[in-house]
Amino acid sequence: MTVVGIDAMEIWTGKLKLDLAETFAPAQGDDPGKYTKGLGLRASSFPDVYEDIVTMGANAAHRLMERKGLTPEDIGRIDVATESAFDNSKPVSTYIAGCLEQVYDENFHHANKGERKFACISGTQSLDDAYNWIRAGRNRGRAALVIATDTALYARDDPGEATQGAGAVAMLVDEDPNLVELSAEQGYGSADETDFLKPNQQFPSVDGKRSVNVYLARMREALEDFAAVAGDIHPGDYEMIPFHTPFPGMVRKAAALGYRHIVRGTDVGDLLAEEIGHQPMRSDFETDDEFHAAIKEYTDALTETERYQDWYANTIEPTLEISRDVGNWYTGSVHIARASGLKHARENGLDLDDARLLVASYGSGAQAEVHAETVVSGWEEEIGALDIDEQIRNRYDLSFAEYEQVHDVHNHETETDVEEFTAPENEFAFDGWGRMGERKYRYVE
Ligand code: HMG
Repeated sequence: MTVVGIDAMEIWTGKLKLDLAETFAPAQGDDPGKYTKGLGLRASSFPDVYEDIVTMGANAAHRLMERKGLTPEDIGRIDVATESAFDNSKPVSTYIAGCLEQVYDENFHHANKGERKFACISGTQSLDDAYNWIRAGRNRGRAALVIATDTALYARDDPGEATQGAGAVAMLVDEDPNLVELSAEQGYGSADETDFLKPNQQFPSVDGKRSVNVYLARMREALEDFAAVAGDIHPGDYEMIPFHTPFPGMVRKAAALGYRHIVRGTDVGDLLAEEIGHQPMRSDFETDDEFHAAIKEYTDALTETERYQDWYANTIEPTLEISRDVGNWYTGSVHIARASGLKHARENGLDLDDARLLVASYGSGAQAEVHAETVVSGWEEEIGALDIDEQIRNRYDLSFAEYEQVHDVHNHETETDVEEFTAPENEFAFDGWGRMGERKYRYVE
């Protein structure tokens, strides 16, 4: 069977930073602990004046192609996943291909291009499309470029404002990959939900509290569906579990739910039962409220156990490190979580050759998807090539007044003329509007 997976990846963060504890919390009159401890975020990334989903995606893809020594001839497919698109017809992938053609002698006329939309989960769906295309033997020896790019902005004073972020992840999907092999088995949890949506509007309408519960409900279904096809899951089966991370506090809840689910019927479940009792069963309670109260009490006890805390520290915590500094990148978020876990492993000398990851993606509206990946040899070199720490360090630290201006600059409803905060160098930059309202870009040396 052809082994297909992610061969290489690059990450591009927006060049600006909003410090949540130092800058956002005081302006909102909030305790910084709400953001740093409650949501688990230190900062958000924002695009500078000349950045947008196209520049960030093209810059990540360009760097990936340069590092891997690729030319357009090597790429047979460009899929962009985004929920921040500015055109209902012309896909972002055509803009990105246009950018890349400015810096390569060849073009991408042979490449199939598209744009995937399903909130945050479309990044993973684009990976699936690339995987299926290669496994079907339609790729003629070429690789697929999958780009997840978003400016995850909320309306000012929306509760989601603290979880904003902006950045892109470019992934090369190919045969005999150097990073991770994707599994054929997948589990889904999908339902028509109205928790987070953008009905022809730029900023989302969000029912924040409900969105948390919808995430958990769909994730539980996806886990069950995955177990139905791949077999029961034991907590020791997976070295790390990268989740979609709108903010790390969400993953704290999802991990506890997932662990409760996967320990059932295992030796770990038996040991936990001796310590904190058996998991509550719905049949033991007369009402849903009583059952939910018992589940909450059990989960609180579970997350206090040393066994759970060790598992969380090794399996989940490493996947949250990058997210804490950049916020929600929507379609790129779960792919940052994978990169973060692998980066942690490399920096701590962990041997992950042949290790298994369980990747838990999610998109509002709503769908969760769970699949497994196997880390393949070559991963350390690939992950070692990322310079995300340097990018995070080099961001311009916005004052609150500057943040307000930047938010206006990227708000499609407002016209604001603001000087750029950083200078573009060796990258694509927004260069104004064309005669049909299209966006124009140039490569800045
Ligand atoms: P909120 O209501 O302002 O915050 O917004 P809160 O009052 O619920 O506080 C947040 C947490 O901080 C709570 O922890 C507080 O207890 C704690 P929890 O009880 O939940 O564990 N807290 C503190 N902790 C320490 N010290 C303090 C302190 N104060 C409070 N001083 C909300 C929260 C999630 C509603 C908001 O951020 C929001 O609307 N976010 C946007 C929606 C979202 O991200 N939903 C997540 C699931 S849906 C999803 O992931 C999909 C998405 O990525 C979109 C897509 O798919 O396209 C969003």
